[in-house]
Amino acid sequence: MKVNIFILLVLYVVYFGVLITLGYLSYKMPNFIFGKGKENEDGEPIQTTSLNYMYTGMLLAILGILVNTYLLVQDTALESHMMEWLNIVIRLMHITFGIAWIGASFYFVFLENALNRTENVRDELAGNLWAVHGGGFYYLEKYKVAPKEIPKHLHWFKYEAYFTWLTGFCLLFVVYYFNASALLIDKNVLDISAAQGISIGVGSFVVAWLIYDQMCKSRLIKNQQLFALIGFALLILFAIFYCHVFSARAAYIHFGAMIGGIMVANVFFVIIPSQKAMVAAAKKGLPLDPTLGKNALARSLHNNYFTLPVLFVMVSNHFPSTFGYEYPWLMLGIISLGTAGVKHYLNLKEKRQLNVWILPVSVVILLAACFISAPSTDPYACKKEVSFSEVNEIIQKRCVQCHSSNPTDDVYKVAPNGVMYDTPEDILKKKDLIMQRVVVTKTMPQNNKTNMTEEERQLIRCWIEQGASTK
Ligand code: HEC
Repeated sequence: MKVNIFILLVLYVVYFGVLITLGYLSYKMPNFIFGKGKENEDGEPIQTTSLNYMYTGMLLAILGILVNTYLLVQDTALESHMMEWLNIVIRLMHITFGIAWIGASFYFVFLENALNRTENVRDELAGNLWAVHGGGFYYLEKYKVAPKEIPKHLHWFKYEAYFTWLTGFCLLFVVYYFNASALLIDKNVLDISAAQGISIGVGSFVVAWLIYDQMCKSRLIKNQQLFALIGFALLILFAIFYCHVFSARAAYIHFGAMIGGIMVANVFFVIIPSQKAMVAAAKKGLPLDPTLGKNALARSLHNNYFTLPVLFVMVSNHFPSTFGYEYPWLMLGIISLGTAGVKHYLNLKEKRQLNVWILPVSVVILLAACFISAPSTDPYACKKEVSFSEVNEIIQKRCVQCHSSNPTDDVYKVAPNGVMYDTPEDILKKKDLIMQRVVVTKTMPQNNKTNMTEEERQLIRCWIEQGASTK
């Protein structure tokens, strides 16, 4: 689609104008237009209404600028460059919000586990804790139910979670959905269209949440062990499902996003509403419904066990030896179990309930993942010397469609990761990475788009093992 450059320029001026004007207004007069003079129940001026409109306007202007830029660079080499920078910026935001969220979550579970509940604890308190951090001493108290009077300034932890989800969802689009035919779908796994793949992906998150939520509302929640067992079995089923629908790498990210989605939904649909109901009841002096707090606590405990598996899955996307394994879902299952086990050990340790077995067993489980994904130690015998010209022929046939200074692939218009195989030196320089991606993990050519054969992979292996000469 060709868009008139003049229209784009005018739109740029409009968007930047809106951005600067609103940015100025939000700083100079946050009460401008809306909410001026209004006060809340406690007699404080309400500022948020007008500010919220301004922030929304600024966000839309930024979106407009992005769309504009996309239209400008569409179908040129700059398109993938723009996507890369979007990827970097959103990823950085995602990691930052994620650290803030999971950090707070770890901290509060630690507090809960480490509270002093016996010595010098006033009647209305559940416990207290002394801590030293950043050169200061802190003294914290947890109430059994709620303080007699709800304090005016009560800090809520929720935006960390919401923004982690929002940026994660954007990242899923930037990395996988905009590029569905290359990264989401692997025709050797299942031949579906991009639209089908995206609907299955997004739909699966909703289904996963509905199942989990029903489990939490059923009697099952009373039996922790059975709940964990059934929950884990369901997770494995989802992993198997994803690995039979998407490319292995996309399957991993969907598995992680599915669990991460459940965690955020726990915050959004259960934890925060329960807390709001508790605060409202306490303000009116009504007795608190103890199930509210209990539900919220159960969900935040589930979230706590989900954290390490989710972190692993997010990181695994950068390690082809994980998703490149023959049964990628098995690897997901093993690592989820092992990392959740480590979290369980840490939780018990904070409560001073030491358990001898949990940590070693978890470590053995994790080692098993490393063990089964190792390359076979019985290499195809390299009977004869493999010459460089044979290797070069394979690479020219299977790789340069994407990896050259002038790619012919329909998706990649510039060499991915800057990897090019134009000259013998280019190939030699990358021989270790080639070994890793082509022979050990078999994750290149991507989705085996160029139909590389096992024999060709073994020839490359022999060539490298024989010293990789370019003579
Ligand atoms: C369909 C396009 C395509 C083909 C064909 C292809 N690759 Fe790739 N390659 C990619 C993409 C995309 C990436 C970056 C994403 C990733 O690392 O998975 C990549 C990354 C790599 C990397 C990792 C570079 C790094 O910095 O980590 C290596 C090595 C590699 N390819 C080697 C090969 C070899 C060898 C072949 C031929 C046997 C090949 N590729 C064929 C698309 C392709």
